[in-house]
Amino acid sequence: MASTQAQILVASNRGPISYTLDEKGTLKAKRGGGGLVSGLSAIGPEAGALWVCSALGDGDREAVRRGVGEEGVRMLDIPADVHEDAYNGIANSVLWFVSHMLYQTPLEPAFDAEFRRQWASFETYNRAFADALAEEAAQGAAVLVQDYHLTLVPRMLRELRPDLRIGHFSHTPWAPPEYFRMLPDDIAAQLLGGILGADRAAFLTQRWADAFTDCCHAVLGPGIPSGTRIGVHGLGADADFLRKRSHEADVNERIVALREQIGAGRKAIVRVDRTELSKNIVRGLLAYRQLLEDQPSWRERVVHVALAYPSRQDLAVYRDYMAEVQRLADEINSQYGTPGWTPVVLHLKDDFARSLAAYRLADVALVNPIRDGMNLVAKEVPVVSDEGCALVLSREAGAYEELGEDAIVVNPYDVSGTARALHEALSMPLDERAERTKRLAGAATALPPAQWFLDQLRALDA
Ligand code: F6P
Repeated sequence: MASTQAQILVASNRGPISYTLDEKGTLKAKRGGGGLVSGLSAIGPEAGALWVCSALGDGDREAVRRGVGEEGVRMLDIPADVHEDAYNGIANSVLWFVSHMLYQTPLEPAFDAEFRRQWASFETYNRAFADALAEEAAQGAAVLVQDYHLTLVPRMLRELRPDLRIGHFSHTPWAPPEYFRMLPDDIAAQLLGGILGADRAAFLTQRWADAFTDCCHAVLGPGIPSGTRIGVHGLGADADFLRKRSHEADVNERIVALREQIGAGRKAIVRVDRTELSKNIVRGLLAYRQLLEDQPSWRERVVHVALAYPSRQDLAVYRDYMAEVQRLADEINSQYGTPGWTPVVLHLKDDFARSLAAYRLADVALVNPIRDGMNLVAKEVPVVSDEGCALVLSREAGAYEELGEDAIVVNPYDVSGTARALHEALSMPLDERAERTKRLAGAATALPPAQWFLDQLRALDA
């Protein structure tokens, strides 16, 4: 048992820090960002919080072995093959596909012996987290378990430590029962039962919370057998951080560079995403091409700035998707481009300062996911925008619940409809755009990360 035990614990696959090894064998630490990092900073170091996460790469594993680490973080050295099965095999290739409804169902999924082998690794990986949390938690401590990677942890932890107060938070959408029940019955029951080991299961929107309870009723029968409470906490943008960060020198430099690529007097349709299958970048490009076809007056007067950063490149389907984004952008540029005008400016290298620069100068933000837990880009753009920005928003993004009224809403599969929405957004009078942006920014910052985190802790106490 650890000597000092924690009163508040957070558990997630990806932690707040990662390590890389250089050729001389020196470890270099890199801090991550995101809602959970700023949320946790709200309680301060004196609260005795501990973040339990997994080692993700060789650098992380070496750091654990050398005993290098940071106070308040415990990284688990889960064997690389077990992590690979659990993270890429089950979490990213099955659970992510179910929650975002991404399967091409004539051929997939096929839950076979290989799936069962990977599932056993997923159980082992969840068990490693449950054991570590049980060891580190003080009597009656609060444990906030994050996301689909760790769905089995609440039940496992409850069995080890009935005294703990356990919350689970889903950062993804939840699938409706008709889709969720593609999973083998025992696996579906194990996933739901895993989360129901928590005192409270929370979601980003009411829609995802309702889908979860619908799945519980369909798979496990009426009622929520464990008495688990269901909650909703719609994570908002961190206005203070974003406004300050987006006016630093590196962002100003990126603005100059982007403006040069766009060209004087042209409007910019901006999108910023991880190149994630659910983000619908390809249909976004198709819609832009349709706009240039249907409304030729926009040719030479608009540029689509697509920042599409690499994600999950261990998976072939993600690599293929990224290649298709690149191919289609090139095709549009060769089809419509002129000596002084590049219709699509595509950047594939992750650069946060450039993302903020694009937010600031965007005339239109395109956020058209097939399905998305929340989508913080939709919330961040209005906060940072210099002169107001029209938001074209998918009705399948969680952010739609709060931003739908002042956005131009699209069905993400409707390419022609999205092209019309882009035209409407580009044509919006500047004063209306500015008014809407103000209201969007208000809604987007209603629940900043610190408050989002504190609310969950408070609700767990209730
Ligand atoms: O959307 C849910 C989520 O957990 C995000 O919070 C996060 O950005 C992503 O999925 C996980 O990404 P990765 O696989 O790169 O850790």
